[in-house]
Amino acid sequence: MAEELSLQQGNKAEQYQSLIPQIQAIVADESDVIANLANICAALKQQFNWFWIGFYLVKDNELVLGPFQGPIACTRIAKGRGVCGTAWQQQNVMIVPDVEQFPGHIACSSDSKSEIVLPVMKQNKCVAVLDIDSDTLDSFDEVDAEYLKQIVAIVEHFI
Ligand code: SME
Repeated sequence: MAEELSLQQGNKAEQYQSLIPQIQAIVADESDVIANLANICAALKQQFNWFWIGFYLVKDNELVLGPFQGPIACTRIAKGRGVCGTAWQQQNVMIVPDVEQFPGHIACSSDSKSEIVLPVMKQNKCVAVLDIDSDTLDSFDEVDAEYLKQIVAIVEHFI
C-alpha cells in the first residue's frame, strides 16, 4: 500500500476520481474488514475534511457504531430512526440538505448541518451504512451519491 495518500485539488468529481483508485489499492492487500473501513474513513477525511465520516454496522437488528473519523457519536441506532436508520430500512441513498428539516434526525452534534447516508448491501441485505455529515448546509448532491456509491461497491466486495 502507498505510504501517503495523494490529495487532489480541483472540483469534487476530480477529487473523487483521484481518491477512488487509491482506496481500491489501500484495501486490496488487506483482508480485515475493520482495518479497511477505518482507512476508507481516514482517506475520505483527508481528501474532503467533512465534519464526520463513519460506518454503522448492522448487529442484532441495530446499527452499531463502527470505524469513523470525527467527534464521538451515538453508538446505536434503531431501524427506521434518523437518517441512518431510514437509509437502512429503505435500502436507499439519503441526501439531507438540512438535517433540521429531517423528521426524527438524530442530532449527535449540533454542528452537523447536512448529511448523506448510503446503504452497504450484501446478498440483498443491508449490512452497514456509510454516514457522512457536513457542518455546512446542502453539502451533498448527486455527484457525491454517484462517487460514494463506487466506494460502497468497494466495501461490498470485502465486507
Ligand atoms: N445524524 C445521524 C446519526 C448519526 S451521527 O450523525 C454520526 C442520523 O440521523 O442518522
